[in-house]
Amino acid sequence: MINIIVAVAENGVIGAGGKIPWDFPEDRAYFKKITSGNIVIMGRNTFEDIGFPLPERYNIIISTTKNFHAENLTTAHDFESALETAHLYAEKHNINDIFLCGGRKIYQQGLDIADRIYLTKIHSDYNGDVFFPKFSRNDFFLAECTEIKDISFCVYVRINKEILNGK
Ligand SMILES: NC(=O)c1ccc[n+]([C@@H]2O[C@H](COP(=O)([O-])OP(=O)(O)OC[C@H]3O[C@@H](n4cnc5c(N)ncnc54)[C@H](OP(=O)(O)O)[C@@H]3O)[C@@H](O)[C@H]2O)c1
Repeated sequence: MINIIVAVAENGVIGAGGKIPWDFPEDRAYFKKITSGNIVIMGRNTFEDIGFPLPERYNIIISTTKNFHAENLTTAHDFESALETAHLYAEKHNINDIFLCGGRKIYQQGLDIADRIYLTKIHSDYNGDVFFPKFSRNDFFLAECTEIKDISFCVYVRINKEILNGK
């Protein structure tokens, strides 16, 4: 399954000056719990902000300008080859889930194909320069949403239109 995982402020901000403009331990713990044991795909800026490959996950970084290779870390030069590498690795290692972890361009490309969106809503506005792209709410249904303090952990699942149309 292809999943998007993102934390979004009330005003759509996801990043500011190359960083995530908030730090909620609950959000970090949730991200770790959901993505561990799986494959993560991210853009070069996001990877350089984190600064190291995420442990317990196979990391694929998309970049046209740099090459990152280490244990559990590889580089793809475009979105399609990142997905191809992810699928091959998933098959070989019996992994079910691929997570698209940002930033904006990765999300933009992923929204057309994602089966699920793990959308963490931060209940405040933040100043920022990177925003989550608009997506069609008609293509997804809200499967669950759990509120903890100032955050809601929501999961949107793609609507299978063939089942809806009785095919
Ligand atoms: N709130 C959240 O959940 C969340 C999650 C992730 C990131 N963020 C924030 O978002 C910001 C970073 O996002 P961003 O959109 O600026 O950058 P990004 O997507 O992380 O990285 C952009 C870079 O990735 C490479 N890239 C992306 N798509 C590509 C494609 N299809 N083909 C080839 N290369 C591709 C390019 O690298 P090259 O220039 O090397 O070619 C591009 O310059 C940061 O502030 C970060 O903290 C927030």
